[in-house]
Amino acid sequence: MSAFNLETCARSNILALEPYRCARDDYKDDGTNILLDANENAYGPSLTTAAASSASSATTSSGPEIDFLGLHRYPDPHQRGLKRLLCNLRNTHHHTDKKITPDNLFVGVGSDEAIDSLMRCFCVPGRDRILVCPPTYGMYSVSAQVNDVGLVKIPLLPAPSFALDVANIKQALSNEPNIKLAYLCSPGNPTGAPLAKEDIRQLLEHPTWNGVVIVDEAYIDFSPEGSSLAEWVAEWPNLAIMQTSSKGFGMAGIRLGSLFASAPIARLLNSMKSPYNITSPTSALAMYAFSPDGLAVMHANREKIVAQRERLIRELPKIKGIGRLRGGIESNFLLYELLNKVGQPDNVTALAVYERLAENRGVVVRFRGKEHGCLGCLRITVGTETEVTRFLESVGETLAEVNGHDIVVYSDEEKREVEANAVIS
Ligand SMILES: Cc1ncc(COP(=O)(O)O)c(C=O)c1O
Repeated sequence: MSAFNLETCARSNILALEPYRCARDDYKDDGTNILLDANENAYGPSLTTAAASSASSATTSSGPEIDFLGLHRYPDPHQRGLKRLLCNLRNTHHHTDKKITPDNLFVGVGSDEAIDSLMRCFCVPGRDRILVCPPTYGMYSVSAQVNDVGLVKIPLLPAPSFALDVANIKQALSNEPNIKLAYLCSPGNPTGAPLAKEDIRQLLEHPTWNGVVIVDEAYIDFSPEGSSLAEWVAEWPNLAIMQTSSKGFGMAGIRLGSLFASAPIARLLNSMKSPYNITSPTSALAMYAFSPDGLAVMHANREKIVAQRERLIRELPKIKGIGRLRGGIESNFLLYELLNKVGQPDNVTALAVYERLAENRGVVVRFRGKEHGCLGCLRITVGTETEVTRFLESVGETLAEVNGHDIVVYSDEEKREVEANAVIS
């Protein structure tokens, strides 16, 4: 039994909020009404007739100056069609027999909007705090600072598990005052490691803590089918799951994030948001991506990424100066140690390789050596086959330059030895 009580956990000003209403909450744009309620421009968007004509002829027979993805109209503030598709995707019944509905959803401008909205909904600036588990995604602490919300840090257990330190988290939730939200990330960034469902359950069952467990599933579409806990919000009033179209769906440019939560939490977040936060092109493109055709493309691209991820795991240990794989392999990136001349993981080496890769070879990866438990680590996003080829060549040569050795790839005998020692999970 958890001690969660939304009425005392959320901020009182948010609980009392009257959401902004527009005339189209009452009278929908059904194509027959003339819409003179929202001070839009009935003559259409400021785009050339040629652009409007080619776009509209693909979608509609109405005049080109009137239609161009409906850009001259405000978008749907509720996005229930989009939310229904997201529910279809996540009602897998791997974690509950219950179903989530559009009432369980908030959609925002990337999951970064959801991260921030949760904080503004639950945390009183200057008083309340959030719990984070480093190494983790940097926006939780940026958003906390912007909102004048404090941080309680309970590091993940050491690599390669990067599991939750459940005992210490539970203790902090019992003893530290004013923690309202716990931001967890599964699979983790930069760890690539999934969190254990049973560990999350233990936090949800905390007997005295009045707060919300948030699981950021940005990379969940690279995990095995059924891994997402989104539908679990139907069981737990104190759970929120964040997802994004930026990673598995390859649509970072449309800025669409989603948050699954109990209907009362979703209602609060929806009442806080600016009314038209999701643009019409964003929802049109996302609805395509979540349709059977779009899902087929996503699955095909995921297979290609997984193949390149496996190639990196096979090839990187053969390169002299590449150390252990840290963390997991459930994302579209890998976290690897870089070794110095004497074979130790080392930030000076990792930083030098990072800089030379970018400046001399045009290959940009991420230096993560300063993150907790990531000494000497680079985080490498899995690219296309050509990109991975170029990265593998460049990293070996750059390591040889930085460490001053000739060998780029180990001999067969050396290779067998490093492969035998390679950590694969
Ligand atoms: C763990 C995690 N959460 C959220 C995000 C941001 O997602 P979005 O593009 O939806 O804002 C990222 C982006 O890198 C991420 O790594």
